[in-house]
Amino acid sequence: MPSRPYVLVFSTATVDGRIASSTGYSMLSCPYDKARLLLLRGYSDAVMVGASTVLVDDPGLRRRLEPRGSRYYRVVVDGRLRLASRPELRVLREPEPKTIVFTAVGGEEAEKLRRMGVDVHVVPSGKPGRVDLAAALEILHREYGVERLLVEGGGVLVHSLLSERLVDELRVTYTPVVFAAGRSVVDDPEARGFPNRERSPRLRLVCSELCPCGECVHNVYRVEDAAGEPAAGEHSPPCLSSRLRSLVRP
Ligand SMILES: NC(=O)c1ccc[n+]([C@@H]2O[C@H](COP(=O)([O-])OP(=O)(O)OC[C@H]3O[C@@H](n4cnc5c(N)ncnc54)[C@H](OP(=O)(O)O)[C@@H]3O)[C@@H](O)[C@H]2O)c1
Repeated sequence: MPSRPYVLVFSTATVDGRIASSTGYSMLSCPYDKARLLLLRGYSDAVMVGASTVLVDDPGLRRRLEPRGSRYYRVVVDGRLRLASRPELRVLREPEPKTIVFTAVGGEEAEKLRRMGVDVHVVPSGKPGRVDLAAALEILHREYGVERLLVEGGGVLVHSLLSERLVDELRVTYTPVVFAAGRSVVDDPEARGFPNRERSPRLRLVCSELCPCGECVHNVYRVEDAAGEPAAGEHSPPCLSSRLRSLVRP
C-alpha cells in the first residue's frame, strides 16, 4: 500500500548552489523557469514550502499551468507556528486554494489559524519543535488524496525531507550567478550536513537540458534510496524545454 505522495523538489539556484543570498535576495528565475515551475505545479496535487519562505517571500502559490486535476492545496511546514502572528500573509488571507499547516505545537496559535480557515495538523517528532514529516506526508495522502507533492523549498525544509529519505525527485535550475553565502538548495541549520558521498542521498541524473533562455541549465535527478512507497507510479515529465518554448514568448 502506498504510504505517501510522490515528492518532487524544485529549486532555482546559483552555480554555487544558493537559493537566496545573505540578504535574502532570491530573484533567480528567468521567464522559462517561472513557466517550468507553474507546469510542475499543474502536475501536482499540492505545493509545500517551509515557514521561512512564506515569511520572507509571502508567495501566493496559486498560479499553475495545465493542471492535471482540480485537487490542489498549499502546505506549509511551520514547526513553531510563526505564521500565526502574520495574518496578512497571502496563504492565510486568500481563501483558495486551501492552506494546510503542519506544526509541532498546538494551543492558541493553532486555533487562530483554524479560525482563518486553515487546516492545522499537530504532528510532533521526537525533536522539540520538529514536525514528523513522514507522518505529515501520510496525512496528505490519506486525508487529502495528494498523490504528487511539489516542494518549492527553502533549503531547510528540503534538508529535513532529504535526511528522512522522503524525496523522490530533485530538480534544480542553475543560473549563471554566484552568491557565495546565503541559503543553499539543501541547507542543514545545524551545519552538519551529509558527511561523505556514502551518506549523501543517492541521486541519478535523468535529464539535463539547456533552458530556452540560453543561459540556465535544468537538471533532473531521481533519488534512488527514497524510503517508503510513493503513491504515484509515474514520474514527472523529465525534460520540459520544448513545451516551454511554446508557452513563453521570447
Ligand atoms: N530560489 C529558490 O528556488 C527559492 C525557493 C524557496 C525559497 N527561497 C528563499 O529561501 C529562503 C528561505 O529558505 P530557508 O531554507 O531559510 O527556509 P525554509 O526551508 O523555507 O523554512 C525553514 C523553516 O521551516 C520550518 N521547518 C522546516 N522543516 C521543518 C521540520 N521538519 N519541522 C518543523 N519545522 C520545519 C522551520 O520553522 P521554525 O524554525 O519556525 O520551526 C524552519 O526554520 C528565502 O530567502 C526564500 O526567498 C528560494
